[in-house]
Amino acid sequence: MPTIVIASPKGGAGKSTTAVILGTELAHAGAEIVMIDCDPNASLRMWAERAPLPIRMSILSNIGESEIVRTIKQHDQDGKIVVVDLEGVASRLVSRAISQADLVITPMRATTLDATIGVRALALIAEEEEALDRKIPHAVVFTMTKAIKSKQHSGIAESLATQGVDVIDPPLMERAAFSALFEFGGSLRSMPAQGNMEAAIENAASFAQAVYKRLAGEG
Ligand SMILES: Nc1ncnc2c1ncn2[C@@H]1O[C@H](COP(=O)(O)OP(=O)(O)O)[C@@H](O)[C@H]1O
Ligand SMILES: [Mg+2]
Repeated sequence: MPTIVIASPKGGAGKSTTAVILGTELAHAGAEIVMIDCDPNASLRMWAERAPLPIRMSILSNIGESEIVRTIKQHDQDGKIVVVDLEGVASRLVSRAISQADLVITPMRATTLDATIGVRALALIAEEEEALDRKIPHAVVFTMTKAIKSKQHSGIAESLATQGVDVIDPPLMERAAFSALFEFGGSLRSMPAQGNMEAAIENAASFAQAVYKRLAGEG
């Protein structure tokens, strides 16, 4: 079953948030999910310790460069969807995780600085493709998007489109509920209401569905 790797060398790009939103929404939709926390800062493990995990979800933390390939391969065969969260660096661990991916997602805030660093993830993927002699499907998702798109946002989106980069629609909006995931643990559906909960859940669910379509080859 598919492995989704969340990768960007930019810290604070929204990787762990994207991983949690995606994992919890796919689990809610009926998939069996294994979350793999490869970040030494252990964002996912801390999230998991705050509340019971959603049903159909398990988590493995503290997975390093010597175990990552084996760990992904084991769970790949279980018929589960594997979601890998990485540290904001370029490292051997990151390369190895990318080498096992069926889809790499690069979360990116639509600012010039973030996009400049974020596109380095695309270069890393290209290097893995070259080494492995296979295509690794990948896509960018804009994170922490404001309700009113800035000119900067449109410019960056246009530039990515020109380069043929797959940009996931919808973006993940800036929402209190999304940042509260790490405060309360669990999912959007289990936490106490934060801001416009319905809109947050709708955003999360459509994002997860857009990702699922790519896995199913309907992208
Ligand atoms: N869509 C969002 N809306 C609101 N806050 C967000 C959103 N995405 C991320 N954040 C917040 O931004 C910070 C960095 O996000 P995080 O997912 O930890 O990034 P990374 O894993 O790439 O370092 C965290 O405090 C997180 O709660
Ligand atoms: Mg993180």
